Amino acid sequence: MRAMRGYTAQTHKQGADYSMANEGDPRPHHNRLHCYDDLEGSLQHAWSILTRGAVDAKSNFHIATLATVTQDGRPRARSVVLRACNSAERWLGFNTDRRSDKFTECSESPHAVMHFYAPKAKIQLRVRVRLEVLDGPALDTNWANTRPFSRVCYQVTQAPGSPIDAPLDVAFDAEASNDGADHFASVRAHVTEIEWLYLHARGHRRALYRFGPDGDEATWLVP
Ligand SMILES: Cc1cc2nc3c(=O)[nH]c(=O)nc-3n(C[C@H](O)[C@H](O)[C@H](O)COP(=O)(O)O)c2cc1C
Repeated sequence: MRAMRGYTAQTHKQGADYSMANEGDPRPHHNRLHCYDDLEGSLQHAWSILTRGAVDAKSNFHIATLATVTQDGRPRARSVVLRACNSAERWLGFNTDRRSDKFTECSESPHAVMHFYAPKAKIQLRVRVRLEVLDGPALDTNWANTRPFSRVCYQVTQAPGSPIDAPLDVAFDAEASNDGADHFASVRAHVTEIEWLYLHARGHRRALYRFGPDGDEATWLVP
């Protein structure tokens, strides 16, 4: 019964007084995010956590689940490290091996989703993206920014996902792979939509933001 107290239609109307909803709960506003009922503020918060995620390896937003579509129309998902976030231009960036399956999928079908979930913050972001495989100076810059430790992965002679007889049957050749640069790919994910979901005991908040050539749209959704 306690969970039902204050959980009335009135307290959920926009602009309602949430003091009722806190009855019996000693914590003020139950530690809600500052942007709990703020549509524009929730979008700003989403961009700020993605921006942080790109540079902070400890952030839950440092790792995305990238979902792509295979040639036969089936979904495929895997983790990738979020390497860049440009909120002004609305894109995210990640790196991969150009011999990998995901690279083939990124190249053949540019529509993908990058999914994030932070268990402590209780925020899920479902980000729709249009993928662009980088080349030229943009690719060179991103390769220049990789660390020696990361470069080793790209020096493997066999393609990622190749079957091997034993775990150590992996050969590295820095010279033949141009230090790994020949296998390195960098992808820019242009954000077309962000779906925000914030879980909270006093009521979840879900919002959809669309960024289109004709302007942007934002709306709350039923969680
Ligand atoms: C935490 C984590 C981060 C990863 N980051 C990347 C990454 O940034 N780029 C990448 O190509 N693979 C990354 N991987 C490996 C992929 O998830 C995947 O297992 C591998 O690349 C094969 O994927 P594919 O067959 O779909 O190409 C990561 C895996 C984990 C667990």
